[in-house]
Amino acid sequence: MGSQWGRDKGYRNAMREGYRSRAAYKLLEIQQHAGMIRQDDNVVDLGAAPGSWLQVLRTLTGGRVLGIDLNPIAPIEGVETIVGDLADPTLPARVKDALGIVNVVVADASPKLSGQRSYDQARAVALGEQALAFACAVLKPGGNFVVKSFQGEDFAELLTEVRTKFRSGRTYQAKASRKGSREIYIIGKNFIGCDAGAD
Ligand SMILES: C[S@@+](CC[C@H](N)C(=O)[O-])C[C@H]1O[C@@H](n2cnc3c(N)ncnc32)[C@H](O)[C@@H]1O
Repeated sequence: MGSQWGRDKGYRNAMREGYRSRAAYKLLEIQQHAGMIRQDDNVVDLGAAPGSWLQVLRTLTGGRVLGIDLNPIAPIEGVETIVGDLADPTLPARVKDALGIVNVVVADASPKLSGQRSYDQARAVALGEQALAFACAVLKPGGNFVVKSFQGEDFAELLTEVRTKFRSGRTYQAKASRKGSREIYIIGKNFIGCDAGAD
């Protein structure tokens, strides 16, 4: 992650504190703000490589922690991982078989950036939609969801969709995000059900 994010202060702090990336601070902030992970929750992390959210999750819950990414994740004690695409339609069943109950889904996935703003924005929101579909398929009623997105076209639609499927849907801009970044997290709390809000 060092080359992608640059070796800035956040990166150096992350390395000093043993985190694999500065993204760790975003999840710590989100948890402090929203408290969506409880002591014994089973948590699935989508787009989890290199693994700093997994490191944080391991400290937040005594439940199972499962990370999924297109890329392999170097082992973390007490964390399970799957190499896979979050859009794979067979993934929810595999995850439910592995964990049984899923209380929380978090997704920090982002596509490889092309540099074309509107194209990248659309792909990022599409990834968020896929993460929401995954969460809908695995979450226990009352469960919680966090997904990274980007402000711009289609963002409002994703937020509305979260709000129809969870009792509350809020946004959170992490202070640990880069200055000027349009990155924004959607936090859905208290899952109602997959079909909620469907036509
Ligand atoms: C910003 S990084 C995540 C950082 C991670 N939260 C951490 O703390 O280490 C975004 C990740 O999303 C993953 N990703 C992108 N598209 C994906 C997909 N369709 N399925 C699974 N992972 C995906 C990328 O491989 C990348 O590792």
